[in-house]
Amino acid sequence: MKTTLVLISSLLAVTGTGIGQERDYQLELPDTPGEAPRFTPPPDSAIPDNQFGEMVRRGRDLFINTQQLRGKYVGNDLNCVNCHVDAGRRADSAPLWAAYTMYPAYRGKNDRVNTMEERIQGCFRYSMNGKPPPSGSEELTAILTYHYWLAKGAPTGVALAGRGYPKLDSPDKTPAIRRGQQVYQAQCTICHADDGQGRKAEGEHIFPPLWGEDSFNWGAGMHRINTAANFIHANMPLGKPYSLSEQEAWDVAAYINSHERPQDPRNDGDLKTTDQTFHNHQCYYGDKINDAVLGSQAYPNPFE
Ligand code: HEC
Ligand code: HEC
Repeated sequence: MKTTLVLISSLLAVTGTGIGQERDYQLELPDTPGEAPRFTPPPDSAIPDNQFGEMVRRGRDLFINTQQLRGKYVGNDLNCVNCHVDAGRRADSAPLWAAYTMYPAYRGKNDRVNTMEERIQGCFRYSMNGKPPPSGSEELTAILTYHYWLAKGAPTGVALAGRGYPKLDSPDKTPAIRRGQQVYQAQCTICHADDGQGRKAEGEHIFPPLWGEDSFNWGAGMHRINTAANFIHANMPLGKPYSLSEQEAWDVAAYINSHERPQDPRNDGDLKTTDQTFHNHQCYYGDKINDAVLGSQAYPNPFE
């Protein structure tokens, strides 16, 4: 029975229900053309020794150790660098240099043209389960300045190779939570632990939590099975990118996103409406998995 339920819900999640399709506000980044130009960001050693350079360094520091803003703008245990690996430099890990030159841009998520600042604020609200630092604040300016610095010399408005996470083809088999659990236990627990809570040293996470109260919320891009599969295939296990088969990446993405996490901050109390309005994509929000509807026991957002 359980297996049937899991199968049905994963099928539903993967094929979509067709209801309210036009209201799925979480569209992915557009595809980068195959012949896209390559770009190498300037080295840290080239950051100038002046006030501008100080701002770049401050932004880099906030990006790597975002926990400095815990309680002020950050509501979970993550740092920006956890999903934008190598301080936002690594190609295929949504690098900042490939992002900076592509804004302002239309975003389906909120159905209007967004500035770079707003895009960064979005990651604070959802991926960091936080409260976005206001435009003009020292924190946002520093992070923005770091993005700008990494993109120095890149052409404006040209999609660069390595932007976002490389998109996998649709899997041969519907992603399965059970198969994903096996991949997880073999490949991921050494760092992220059996319970997905990561590992700490001296009270600080050295390996980040993948679900639960201290991870990204139900509004973050990473809760989509396809986005997580893309990220995982190109970046995990850490140090062994592209070592999982594509099917393994899809399955393990299904597994990590089949657990409860902090609530989607757009939820106004009605799970069904939130699900239909914002979650018509590949995810388990609103689906019954292991006897519980995901999202119904979501952790409250500390700032909402
Ligand atoms: C839990 C993972 C996660 C964390 C933590 C995270 N992000 Fe993101 N970020 C994403 C995902 C997923 C995308 C969308 C990539 C895609 O859809 O391919 C994204 C996209 C972005 C983009 C746009 C990239 C582009 O090419 O358009 C920027 C800029 C960004 N994030 C900045 C930040 C900043 C700044 C922080 C910290 C405050 C942060 N992110 C924290 C997952 C994360
Ligand atoms: C060798 C240790 C290690 C292994 C093994 C590993 N990871 Fe990670 N993982 C990390 C680290 C460290 C980060 C944060 C990256 C950074 O900050 O540079 C991370 C980040 C992540 C993230 C984004 C951040 C978050 O908290 O959601 C996901 C998702 C993830 N890993 C999934 C996996 C999966 C799935 C596997 C198994 C296939 C795996 N990882 C194996 C160390 C590891």
